[in-house]
Amino acid sequence: IEHRPLYGRHVLVTAGPTHEPIDPVRYLANRSSGKQGFAIAAAAAAQGARVTLVAGPVHLDTPPGVDRIDVESAREMADEVKKALPVDVAIMAAAVADWRTKDYHGEKVKKRGSAPPALMLTENPDILANVASGGKRPKLLIGFAAETEDVIANAQTKLKRKGVDWIVANDVSGDVMGGAANTVHIVTGSSVEHLDTMPKQEVARQLIDRVAKALETIDDD
Ligand code: PMT
Repeated sequence: IEHRPLYGRHVLVTAGPTHEPIDPVRYLANRSSGKQGFAIAAAAAAQGARVTLVAGPVHLDTPPGVDRIDVESAREMADEVKKALPVDVAIMAAAVADWRTKDYHGEKVKKRGSAPPALMLTENPDILANVASGGKRPKLLIGFAAETEDVIANAQTKLKRKGVDWIVANDVSGDVMGGAANTVHIVTGSSVEHLDTMPKQEVARQLIDRVAKALETIDDD
């Protein structure tokens, strides 16, 4: 008999940055390393969940017991997330690029004349908001919020605007992106819980503990 609290649950996790191609050799990106999302996937698998991890371009080993799908761009991540549904819980820790280049150049952009080329950007799909409003919405949908100011207030706004259950808010003005530790606040519609600064693995374990408890309550309803 399986006694691990997430046995029988399917958890979807996104992690890492996305790369938005400019031409065959260049891309737009951000500093996410994938460490926080991979730690969450590992913690969920350790608690018995079936875990699907949709990962942007990162240099990390796949945690034991996790099904990993590698993607590059936000649109690829959106497609793979859609394919992974339905799940019981989705935890979106990826730092999805808000914008991509409007025109992809099929050939390497050349230095011509004196003026540098202008990059025109266009908005990427909001994967989290689309999962929230879609027909296969998980019963527990958790987003992250990377903020450099007004961390809690911005997280509360994001929670409402994107229609998610919880937002894990983190202040990324230090070296959280790429670093080993994180300081997060778990924001729900009715509460804010501040966690101390701790290794990303420990943040992951504490988050997954709360997920397991919340699922029990959701099932009781
Ligand atoms: O990868 P690490 O180096 O370990 O760093 C961890 C982290 C800082 C990247 C992570 O903890 C984190 O905060 N991830 C979310 C980063 C982010 O993009 O935040 P955001 O506030 O821009 O987005 C809010 C939420 O919407 C996120 O859940 C994001 O996955 C989602 N989103 C954003 C844009 C978009 N087009 N689609 C999305 O689904």
